[in-house]
Amino acid sequence: MGSVAAQLRQRQWKRDSYLISTDPSLIPMDQLMAAFDSDDFYWTDSLPEEAMREMVEQSLCFGLYRVDGQAASDAGASAEAGAEAGAGAGTPGPESRAQLHVPSPNTKLKLLGFARCVTDFITFLYLTDVWVDHDHQGGGLGSWLIRSVQEVVEDMPHLRRSLLFTGDWDRSVPFYERLMHMQLIDCRRESGGLAIMERKGRGHPGFGREGTGYN
Ligand SMILES: CC(C)(COP(=O)(O)OP(=O)(O)OC[C@H]1O[C@@H](n2cnc3c(N)ncnc32)[C@H](O)[C@@H]1OP(=O)(O)O)[C@@H](O)C(=O)NCCC(=O)NCCS
Repeated sequence: MGSVAAQLRQRQWKRDSYLISTDPSLIPMDQLMAAFDSDDFYWTDSLPEEAMREMVEQSLCFGLYRVDGQAASDAGASAEAGAEAGAGAGTPGPESRAQLHVPSPNTKLKLLGFARCVTDFITFLYLTDVWVDHDHQGGGLGSWLIRSVQEVVEDMPHLRRSLLFTGDWDRSVPFYERLMHMQLIDCRRESGGLAIMERKGRGHPGFGREGTGYN
């Protein structure tokens, strides 16, 4: 069985030659650092490599990859087999978690997206560092990535709250409202500050009820 953290770090989803995985050992640190140093990461830069590694190891990270070459067809075959097995058990369609083999060390994984959850794996989860490679934006990968995060969030039985901050009121607020059912916490748009968004988890006393309070 293993700890909840260990289980949550074994989740994966497959679509065509793309893979989303929560396995931190798959993350190519050089590619992640390059992403953090790109213009898209306007809220931070990369940290020294040891600090980056520790940050990744102590979070729940979602890596979105293009699986290249032979590895892609191997992974695809495994995914189909897993999907078939899942279908028999009533598991839903193509976006469902696929029972993939963890790619071998020789597999070429190109990091195309990333999302990081700072979490105790039980009661609280803060989503940050959401990114899709500039050349691949606008094609649905970001939505898929965030839906996979939300699938995990919805599965956490004792989660009280998921939370995020964003400065992009126009695009990101509706994005997270739509994909994660996040709600704005009472804060004033006029102040020019960050939007704070939350979603009650299944462990919240007000789970399933409107509003952001406890009642
Ligand atoms: C936000 C981001 C991950 C979305 O990934 P994507 O692959 O382009 O997403 P999709 O193609 O699935 O969907 C695009 C949707 O994301 C929305 N979006 C949310 N935040 C966005 C942003 N900062 N930049 C561009 N689009 C954004 C778009 O408005 C679009 O909505 P629509 O479908 O209603 O038109 C990606 O644009 C990105 O990495 N942006 C730069 C980094 C960033 O701003 N991250 C922080 C977000 S809080």
